[in-house]
Amino acid sequence: MRKIAIIGGSGVYNPEALAGFEKKIIDTPYGQALVNVGMLYGNQVAFITRHGVGHSVPPHKINYRANIWALKSLGTEEILATTAVGSLNPEMTAGHFVVCNDLLDFTKSRINTFFDGERLPVGHADFTHPYCEKVRQKIIACLKQTDIAFHTHGTYVCTEGPRFESAAEVRMFARLGGDVVGMTNCPESVLAREAEMHYSTVSIVTNMGAGISKTPLSHQEVIDAMAKSIKNMEKLISSFIAYNEDAKASCTCATTMQEFGGFKLEGMKK
Ligand code: HPA
Repeated sequence: MRKIAIIGGSGVYNPEALAGFEKKIIDTPYGQALVNVGMLYGNQVAFITRHGVGHSVPPHKINYRANIWALKSLGTEEILATTAVGSLNPEMTAGHFVVCNDLLDFTKSRINTFFDGERLPVGHADFTHPYCEKVRQKIIACLKQTDIAFHTHGTYVCTEGPRFESAAEVRMFARLGGDVVGMTNCPESVLAREAEMHYSTVSIVTNMGAGISKTPLSHQEVIDAMAKSIKNMEKLISSFIAYNEDAKASCTCATTMQEFGGFKLEGMKK
C-alpha cells in the first residue's frame, strides 16, 4: 500500500474521486490541520486544501508546517501538490500542466524550516533537486496516458504575494531562468523535504505573467482558468493514486536529514 497525499491549490478544493473521505482535524506542534483521509485503489490517501475552506487563507498565512507535519503523522510518503501559476515562458500557455523540476525562492516572511534548533536541531537540507524525481516520473507517466498538454520540466518561481508581480519582476524572473510563477511552493516543498517525504508539484498555467498578459491580472481569471482545467487535474489525481508501478528514477528524499538524526515527529529528546 502506498501512502499518498494530495495538496490541492487554487481551484482544487474537493476532487470527485475523494468524495466520502473522513474529515480529520489533526493537532500538530504548530497548530491544527484539516485533512480528508480515505482509501482509493488500495492506497491510503490524504487530501489537504491548501487555502482552506472557501479559499480563506492567503499564501503567506498558510500554516505550512502544520500541514506537512500532519501529513507526516499519517505516514504519508508521496505528495502531489497542485499549484496555479502565471507563465513567464511563451511555450507554456493557459491550461498547460508543468511538472516542475527546479525552483527559485523569492518569499520573504515565511517560517521555512522544522530544523530551527527548537523542536528539532539546527539542520540543513539538501535541496539540489527541490522536487522528488520519482514522484515527477510517476506524474509524467500518468500525463503521457492523457491528451493533456504538458511540459516535463520547468522552474517554479515562488513569490511572497499575495499581490501579483510587477512587469519588471516578471522580466527579471524570466531572465533568471524561471518558467512559471506562483506563491505557495515555498516553504511547502522545503518542509516536505525536511520531513523526508517525496514531494512534487504540478503547476497549471492559468495566465501569462504580468506585463506579458495584455490585461491586468485578477484572481477571478485564475479561478476561471482553473475551472477549465479541473477535469484534467482530477483525471491526473486519480491516475496518480492508481499508478502503483515503481518509478524509473532514484532520489534521496527519505534520508535527507540523516546527518541531523532524521525528521522526528516527537521532536528532540530532552
Ligand atoms: N503570479 C503569481 N501567482 C499566480 C499567478 C501569477 O501570475 N497566476 C496564478 N497564480
